[in-house]
Amino acid sequence: MITLKDVSKEFTGKNKAVKAVDAVNLTIQSGEIFGIVGYSGAGKSTLVRMLNGLEKPTSGTVTLNDKIISTMSGQALRKERRAIGMIFQHFNLLWSRTVLENICFPLEIAKVEKTERIKRAKELIELVGLQGREDAYPAQLSGGQKQRVGIARALANEPQVLLCDEATSALDPQTTDDVLDLLVSINKKMNLTIVMITHEMHVVRKICHRMAVMDGGKVVEEGEVLSLFKHPAHPTTKRFIRQDSDPDSEDTDEVLRELLKTYPEGKLIRLLFHGGSAQAPVISHVSRSFNVDVNIIQGSMQSTQETPIGTLTIQLLGEEAAVEEAIKEFRVYRVEVEVLNDALQ
Ligand SMILES: Nc1ncnc2c1ncn2[C@@H]1O[C@H](COP(=O)(O)OP(=O)(O)O)[C@@H](O)[C@H]1O
Ligand SMILES: [Mg+2]
Repeated sequence: MITLKDVSKEFTGKNKAVKAVDAVNLTIQSGEIFGIVGYSGAGKSTLVRMLNGLEKPTSGTVTLNDKIISTMSGQALRKERRAIGMIFQHFNLLWSRTVLENICFPLEIAKVEKTERIKRAKELIELVGLQGREDAYPAQLSGGQKQRVGIARALANEPQVLLCDEATSALDPQTTDDVLDLLVSINKKMNLTIVMITHEMHVVRKICHRMAVMDGGKVVEEGEVLSLFKHPAHPTTKRFIRQDSDPDSEDTDEVLRELLKTYPEGKLIRLLFHGGSAQAPVISHVSRSFNVDVNIIQGSMQSTQETPIGTLTIQLLGEEAAVEEAIKEFRVYRVEVEVLNDALQ
């Protein structure tokens, strides 16, 4: 439904040009939750602003439902833009208006008649769970409540697509989860296509079906969330995934290096469990069958839209051949195995 073809955006600064987005090709399907993850400055916001025509590409085309919006302007663009709602990190609410009035605002612009406006705004208030706060002002709301107003307002004109630019980045972890749950329920209930722009991998991991990783204006990797978690190819993707499963990854690496010094003969491996393999008692089976000792160093569990995934960093000690066989056995159980010895030296 949204297609980007060879999209680039260059900004001309004082003495040099910045290529904020560099030859991006992407297709976002109707009804999916698509994540775009990247570090600050990767070009995410510029990309998302081209999706709703707020920014024009220097070259390439952006197509929404077979209409090329990257060349539209004025009335035609405004009409197409109604199909796209957007929410922001800092909510961008009108501070002098109540919750109800904020949500009515886009309906006023669309010239919806007053009683209809209020009826629709009240339905939206219910949808986002803000009943009873209709007359509150933004300053009287918590961050999570403000974002709920942002979501309700973005949905007022019944868009097909919701763009979220760092929409949970200003919220605490619990509130982030609540807002993500709300977005998933709206995605299901209304078949709304959602594009999540974020520098936080856990946001994408929890709710997205597919994702793209951006670095230096380019999409360096894309695919289904679970398959990128299983087999990340690009170093940037690997870094994001590692930080998500082990926020103290630098400490872990320090411990691993020490272990390697003490037991140079052992193998340090990282295991990734998903689906059925997360339930089988694989570790004890492998340890017993091959007479290898297992030293557990770090582990965590994460949820994704499809299935939970777990990572476990362990050390295998034993006869060299037995350790090799143990690694093969893990793979039989469909546990992904990454040997870390070389990477750490
Ligand atoms: N209006 C602008 N003028 C000049 N440079 C810009 C402008 N907007 C963004 N940039 C530059 O483009 C790059 C990508 O920015 P942005 O899209 O905001 O990244 P992100 O959202 O991933 O942090 C950065 O180097 C930024 O400084
Ligand atoms: Mg940004």
